[in-house]
Amino acid sequence: MRSILSLIVASFALLGVATATAITKRTPTKIEERAGRTFIGYNGFNGTPRPPQASGGGELGAVFYVADAVDLARLFAQGPNPAMNYVCLIHADSTEWSRVPKAWVPQRILSMGGNAVNSFAPGAVVFAPHTNAGLPPAAPARVFQLGVRQAQIERLVLTSDCRPRSEFDNDHSTLDYPSLNTTWNIQSPP
Ligand SMILES: *[C@@H]1O[C@H](CO)[C@@H](O)[C@H](O)[C@H]1NC(C)=O
Repeated sequence: MRSILSLIVASFALLGVATATAITKRTPTKIEERAGRTFIGYNGFNGTPRPPQASGGGELGAVFYVADAVDLARLFAQGPNPAMNYVCLIHADSTEWSRVPKAWVPQRILSMGGNAVNSFAPGAVVFAPHTNAGLPPAAPARVFQLGVRQAQIERLVLTSDCRPRSEFDNDHSTLDYPSLNTTWNIQSPP
């Protein structure tokens, strides 16, 4: 009886460790591999690594911002303290990611600002182009971003694997979201 109890306690402890390390660990944990994870892009920031959370606002409103291109994430990973400049690899639960609605935000709504985007396609992950301003010449010709609303962050089991920005210095990788229209079933603007 006692051994079963300690086994249960140990399992919970292991789960806790796995959850905590998922945020910063480089190699995916066995739990993540079993669950099936989909790489959805890059998030750049300056500060202390933290779990994904929606920002206060921006072009796509109150969402957690993810870029398809390393170069775009690097732009947001620039702060006064280089030791706190991070580019993070963002993964989602594959099953939930395939289920969540996804939509390109129409240009007319983008031009109305973040508050207008907030009320567009409730429950959906939103996609939009981003300006190349400030990106190096070696950056992809076009860069894109997606936004995950706070309510979907937990459902999608988003994890953030953060590394020093300097590790990405010569990395110009991109997922190129438009090329994933069919694979991810991203809906075109109405
Ligand atoms: C993906 O969809 C967007 C929005 O409709 C469109 O602008 C883009 O050209 C599409 N890309 C491809 C490769 O089909």
